[in-house]
Amino acid sequence: MPRGFAWKVFLAFVALLLPLAFFSEKTVRETGGSFDGLALALLLSLALAALSSYLLTASLARRIKNLSSNLGQLHERLWKEPPPDRHFDDEIERADGRAKSLAERIMETMNMLRDEKEKIRAIIDQMDDGVALMDSRMEILLHNEAFTKMFDAKPGADWTGLPMREVVRNPHLLDVMDKYAATGAVIRREIPASGGSHMAVTVTTFRQDLPQKRTLLVLHDITQQKKIEQMRADFVANASHELKTPLTAISGFVETMADGSVDDPETAKQFLAIIQKHVERLARLVDDLLTLSDIELGREKLDFAELNPEMVIKGVEQFFQNGAASAGITISRNIGPDFIALRADRDKLTQILINLVDNAIKYTPRGGRVEISCKRLDVTGENSGGFGYPSLDGNAILPETEDGWTKSFTEFCVSDTGEGIPQQSLPRLMERFYRVDNARSRERGGTGLGLAIVKHILIAHGGSIRIESELGRGTSIRFIIPG
Ligand SMILES: Nc1ncnc2c1ncn2[C@@H]1O[C@H](COP(=O)(O)OP(=O)(O)O)[C@@H](O)[C@H]1O
Ligand SMILES: [Mg+2]
Repeated sequence: MPRGFAWKVFLAFVALLLPLAFFSEKTVRETGGSFDGLALALLLSLALAALSSYLLTASLARRIKNLSSNLGQLHERLWKEPPPDRHFDDEIERADGRAKSLAERIMETMNMLRDEKEKIRAIIDQMDDGVALMDSRMEILLHNEAFTKMFDAKPGADWTGLPMREVVRNPHLLDVMDKYAATGAVIRREIPASGGSHMAVTVTTFRQDLPQKRTLLVLHDITQQKKIEQMRADFVANASHELKTPLTAISGFVETMADGSVDDPETAKQFLAIIQKHVERLARLVDDLLTLSDIELGREKLDFAELNPEMVIKGVEQFFQNGAASAGITISRNIGPDFIALRADRDKLTQILINLVDNAIKYTPRGGRVEISCKRLDVTGENSGGFGYPSLDGNAILPETEDGWTKSFTEFCVSDTGEGIPQQSLPRLMERFYRVDNARSRERGGTGLGLAIVKHILIAHGGSIRIESELGRGTSIRFIIPG
């Protein structure tokens, strides 16, 4: 209550009580109990009371009017429109009405803001990018889970209120923040992060119109992108190198023959044979490169058909019969009993088997054996533990539900009794141009693309592959095709 108002109430009481006190009981008795004195006193005090209550009411009315006009102005300031005044009997009702409508609008706005805040929270928590908002002292006002995860913090870590410098230790990022603090200009930069990963950093001012400067930091994981760029660059370098070797050889021999220094027909024949070998090699490389890019880019549509795997295997066996015999290797086949049909692209399945058997023969010494086998593989939720086939493209091969499902595959296996593959090479075998021994592979006509092609055909079929090998004992390459 304002001081002035308290003072007026006090005055009103004094005005009421003073005449009464003055003409107290004693005074009445002294004046001989005259009633007139008392009546006069009462009248006087009533007049004074009326006057003071008038003053009080007038001041109250002014204040209430002020209050309601202030409420009205506040309403206009907040929502840029006049308050929704209905008809009011008096100022108190108007002030009350305005206060109520103000309270309602404030509640509505608070709910809306809370809703918005939750929406923003939900959106930034769903993002894979790390987001953090900081105040002018670089203290974190808000961040999402992805942000802390990028700095290897425990799940659910809350860094709100902490200085950025204390929690983020990446020197490159701190450097970016310093540059930003010095210039205030938007910064976009790629920086290395922990565990060999890479991040794209964007630092900007959040809402320039706010009086307090706020900084928005967005981190985007570009590790995968960098890897792909690197792979592409490696591929171009490798492919150029592979193409260059036979081309250099061919041009060398052609030059020698062209300048007339080879007059002996026997030598010329030898040279031509070498040139032909290199030309064949070039043709193989170009063929493999085209096959690979066609499958990878999905340019070549798969022609799915019901087929009998035994017939496909027999065809491959026949294809290699002569070559295997001259390399002193026996090929056999082993087809599981309960065989029905399989849906696959016949040419592509044949190509997988040709690439695998070609390797098996190439990397198996004389006297060795190569076996092509095929059987049904029924995987259920209960026995999926020993499945062991990886996903080649990130898509799940088996259902992700718990139990109660069965998925059927046809499993092929090409095994040999050859030289085997070192364990450390196994994870890299499907990479383009990866060979355990470059010179040996080339000498045997390899392009280093065979298993990469196999992998991509299997991806197109929704299948998978696994390789087991023991140095000096042999290799078994198994692959599955669904259905
Ligand atoms: N059955 C196998 N036995 C031993 N090594 C193998 C076998 N299959 C593949 N490799 C190794 O994997 C490498 C990649 O195979 P591939 O992609 O077919 O290329 P290449 O053209 O060299 O045959 C080969 O160079 C070889 O080192
Ligand atoms: Mg090969």
